[in-house]
Amino acid sequence: MFQFKTKKTILDIRPYVPGESKSDSTERLVKLSSNEGAFGPSPKAVKAMQEAATNMHRYPDGDANILRDAIAKKNNIDKKNIICGAGSDEIIMFLCQAFAGEGDEVLHSEHGFLMYSIYAKAAGATPVSAPEKDLIADPQALLDKVTDKTRLIFLANPNNPTGTYWTRQTVVDFHTRLPKNVILVLDSAYAEFVDDPDYTAGHDLVKQHNNIVVTRTFSKLYGLGGVRLGWGHASDEIIDILNRIRGPFNANRCAQAAGVAALNDDEFVQQSIEHNKKMLDWVSAELISLGLDVVPSQGNFVIVDFGDEERAEGCRLYLKEQNIFVRQIGGYGLPTYLRISIGLEDEMKLALEAICAYLSK
Ligand SMILES: Cc1ncc(COP(=O)(O)O)c(C=O)c1O
Repeated sequence: MFQFKTKKTILDIRPYVPGESKSDSTERLVKLSSNEGAFGPSPKAVKAMQEAATNMHRYPDGDANILRDAIAKKNNIDKKNIICGAGSDEIIMFLCQAFAGEGDEVLHSEHGFLMYSIYAKAAGATPVSAPEKDLIADPQALLDKVTDKTRLIFLANPNNPTGTYWTRQTVVDFHTRLPKNVILVLDSAYAEFVDDPDYTAGHDLVKQHNNIVVTRTFSKLYGLGGVRLGWGHASDEIIDILNRIRGPFNANRCAQAAGVAALNDDEFVQQSIEHNKKMLDWVSAELISLGLDVVPSQGNFVIVDFGDEERAEGCRLYLKEQNIFVRQIGGYGLPTYLRISIGLEDEMKLALEAICAYLSK
């Protein structure tokens, strides 16, 4: 029998399963399973990191001053309202730890990012899921689930894995109807890829409301998933609380250096955004022409419905045999779908050819 005492909610956690990345083959691996950014990191970020590595025996700047200056400047926000983390995951964890505990509820939409419920349970709280409509978070369904126990609402905008999103107006209307003591977290991990002018990552809203938090990441557009770097933007009150539980050196030296360089490599950023848009449009159209149901995405990935679970899994395994990794998303309640990240042009062509071959088998 398990002899150690832990929170009951922790025993309920099913550990997160990352996108597959290991292969025994020595052939080229086409990894389209973790939304990691087609071009990898900016060469300027790699160089900055190598330089920082010569000082890796020194603790980093615990307040990530240079990085927060750079983030503040790029996003036209106040540095004092920024907190950096080991991935935006860590900011999500801090939020749950700080604001939710036993007896509290943490709300998210049906197919929301899995870490919300994991961190809610880790904090001792109860995750609550609200149904979506056509794979889009449904404002009314979320509001219907708000109780006097609700502490946090997480909305990935755009959402992973669906790629669907809310416009600024929808966010504003939703927030207006929330109790003032509930914190709305806009997880804008994929914000850079959105091309709808009516969208906001939410920084303008954080400036107006002390109960809105925005989280951002360097893992997607900037291709820095391996060094773990993300950040949050929130009111003075919330930042103060989060800083109390933040480890003193949570954003490491190399990550901070890479982050600053990546943020300032405008050309790389622009090329990555343009490439994503072009490839996302292309691959979506091609998949539709194969007769598959494709959910319109504003991220750097797309989900495709194969109609039944067996066919989806069959396709995933068929691709895997050819060293092409895509993501099965049964854990998100979408077992008939596969999620395909946007990679390089030739990678997308290889994936598409393989899907085509699988379907015509
Ligand atoms: C919606 C969403 N939020 C947050 C994250 C976490 O990103 P990271 O911890 O790498 O910053 C991810 C990663 O896949 C994501 O899809």
